Amino acid sequence: MPEQLSCGEAVPRQYAASGSLLAFNLEPDSGQPVYARLYAQLREAILTGRVEAGTRLPASRVLAAELGLSRNTVVAAYTRLADEGYAHARGGAGVYVASVLPEDAAFPPLEARTDAVPDEGAGAPPVLSARGRQLAAMGLEGGSASPVPFVADVPAFDVFPLDSWVRLMARSWRQVQPDMLGYAPAAGHAPLREVIAQNLRATRFLRAAGSDVIMTSGSQQSLDLLARVLLDPGEAVWVEEPGYGGTRSAFSAAGARLVPVPVDAEGLSVEEGRRREPLPKLIFVTPSHQYPLGVTMSMARRVELLAFAQSCGALVVEDDYDSEFRYAGTTLPALQSMDSAGRVFYLGTFSKSLLPRFGLGCWCRHRLTRRHLPTPKV
Ligand SMILES: Cc1ncc(COP(=O)(O)O)c(C=O)c1O
Repeated sequence: MPEQLSCGEAVPRQYAASGSLLAFNLEPDSGQPVYARLYAQLREAILTGRVEAGTRLPASRVLAAELGLSRNTVVAAYTRLADEGYAHARGGAGVYVASVLPEDAAFPPLEARTDAVPDEGAGAPPVLSARGRQLAAMGLEGGSASPVPFVADVPAFDVFPLDSWVRLMARSWRQVQPDMLGYAPAAGHAPLREVIAQNLRATRFLRAAGSDVIMTSGSQQSLDLLARVLLDPGEAVWVEEPGYGGTRSAFSAAGARLVPVPVDAEGLSVEEGRRREPLPKLIFVTPSHQYPLGVTMSMARRVELLAFAQSCGALVVEDDYDSEFRYAGTTLPALQSMDSAGRVFYLGTFSKSLLPRFGLGCWCRHRLTRRHLPTPKV
């Protein structure tokens, strides 16, 4: 590193250094030399973990070009970092962030930090909302990155036709027009919604137009959105017992009162549900392939469920998460297709038919009108 430090360079605006993905604010201020401000911001990035131990800092020539500075200025900042123990030069191989920092005691490494919600102390206002506390209690981890034997809910990643997918992706990106690169409508890309509606009409007999389809990042987000728009805290929701944990999380986070309803050989037991809670606001079912028991809801049970929902004004969420898969024959049409009262919200996902990592799902709304919401009478 050269020894000379360049100071007082007349410098510019705010930058994000693209090669290094580090943002710097080098607006002129109290007359501090530019190299010192660059040094201070790099040091802060190192101490806060934005740049990790062992990371190679951008080459001084590259960073200087990106920030519009002289190379000497960058070298001076690096030299000071090295002198103070935050970085070290490896011969001609570049400058690296030190693995042990002078402040290590003051800034515990990431793994030593806790995810615990800060102590709220007696009488102090809670940091998290009631909903946030519910969510925090559920944890953020979940899902398995690689399939394990007999796992029920992930496709076979090793047989995904990756080559064809890559080819199709490349072909479609070549056709992208600039006006397709901006923000999409909140409900999703209209042509995609139209194709999904066509497909669901053809394969699941769904009563839905493209404008009824709302794209999400998967069933979990669909459930979360539905819980937020349909449920008020304390309202009763029938959930299948045993059932899908993701549903319980979404509805509990919305403050709903979960009513577990047993599943028998014909699917969710409406009779038992009615005994446990006669006035549910919402009923959640997986009729094509009950999760996790695998039962298909019988036609008689479907009719009973829809009649009950209609009689008490309940809404139904149908999670059709994997009806694309069957050993033989065809599956029954979706419950939503039998629903003439507009009470069923249909959830679809591409997590099984494509890949969970794509994060793609949708829900189809029904246009609810007052006509569909009679006064409950049970
Ligand atoms: C019952 C059920 N619904 C939905 C899903 C898929 O959820 P997502 O679309 O969020 O991946 C799963 C995944 O295992 C599931 O078991």
